[in-house]
Amino acid sequence: MNKLLIATNNKGKVIELQDLLKDMEIELVTPADINLNLEVEEDGADYKENATKKAISFAQASGLVSLADDSGLEVDVLDGAPGLYSARYHPKPGANDADRRAYMLENLRDKPRPWTAHFHATIAIAVTQGDVHIVEGNCYGEIVPEERGTGGFGYDPIFLLPELNKTMAELEMEEKNRLSHRAKAVMNAVPMLRRIFYS
Ligand code: IMP
Repeated sequence: MNKLLIATNNKGKVIELQDLLKDMEIELVTPADINLNLEVEEDGADYKENATKKAISFAQASGLVSLADDSGLEVDVLDGAPGLYSARYHPKPGANDADRRAYMLENLRDKPRPWTAHFHATIAIAVTQGDVHIVEGNCYGEIVPEERGTGGFGYDPIFLLPELNKTMAELEMEEKNRLSHRAKAVMNAVPMLRRIFYS
């Protein structure tokens, strides 16, 4: 069976991507599975550049077709911040996801609600350096002032899906994996993966 490398060191993303791709009859491997210790600097100007850089770097290091995700949360009243910088949205080095959520709520406190926002994901699939496929997905909702739920990762406990009245962190993984930005991007990637692995 052909192998696809899930090109990320983010455990939350690995778990979701493994579930999203489980029916594809492709052998999924993680960097840890192949003892690959690679950190890629995310210095691109947009999600596409970062996702492409990560996918190509992991493909070159492993010799495997590699799928990388670059994603972020864009809050309208913060002019789209933290966006591309979602993983680094805190003045203090070494801050964790909980610190970043608290910092976001601090920055939103005096702003009028609803704090509408969306998650964005760009996925890059690198077959070789010159053969990279890009797909995208978005998920719309709003930020709420109190954390709810324990599932998912990152900003999930403060991101509400108004139509369900649940935060992302209150969803079962199966539900998040039907609705999320990453799920939508993966859905768009399926025809490409079929072409890459089955044609
Ligand atoms: P990057 O793609 O490595 O730059 O990191 C994306 C960052 O966006 C993550 O570290 C999270 O802070 C945030 N993020 C992306 N997707 C999600 C999600 O599904 N739930 C919550 N936070 C997310």
